[in-house]
Amino acid sequence: MYSHIYNYEDLNRQTNKLINDIEKAINGEYSAIMCYESLAKIAPSEKERKQILEIQSDEKKHLQQFIQLYYSLTGVQPQPKMTEECAENYIEGLQLALKDEQETVDFYLGISDETSNVYTKELLKRIAMDEQNHAVWFLYFYTKLK
Ligand SMILES: [Fe+2]
Ligand SMILES: [Fe+2]
Repeated sequence: MYSHIYNYEDLNRQTNKLINDIEKAINGEYSAIMCYESLAKIAPSEKERKQILEIQSDEKKHLQQFIQLYYSLTGVQPQPKMTEECAENYIEGLQLALKDEQETVDFYLGISDETSNVYTKELLKRIAMDEQNHAVWFLYFYTKLK
């Protein structure tokens, strides 16, 4: 007879974890937008600069999607914060971006696995695919410089 009470607590714990993860995602996307802005400025060619700005525009879209999700879960507008420092030079920027994009793929797929909400699950998978694509671009730029 207590089972639904435990389920309720369980659900609460899951939701709190999800809200925390989405907050972390919001700060990550926000930081990426800022750092890719400066990375685009020091890109060695117009082609790379454009590609980095295209990646940045994906991150802007992700940020909006996560803000909406956060709002739907909490009823509160999140306050995005910078959580990472941007690199000082191009090659270091590519390395940081590459590592960050790859870790983000894992992080988002983890959230997707944990949630039972179908919309959130699919959203996170789709965003993870973008991040995977970003990682490949940064790897390509990095390999060219080596
Ligand atoms: Fe993103
Ligand atoms: Fe990304």
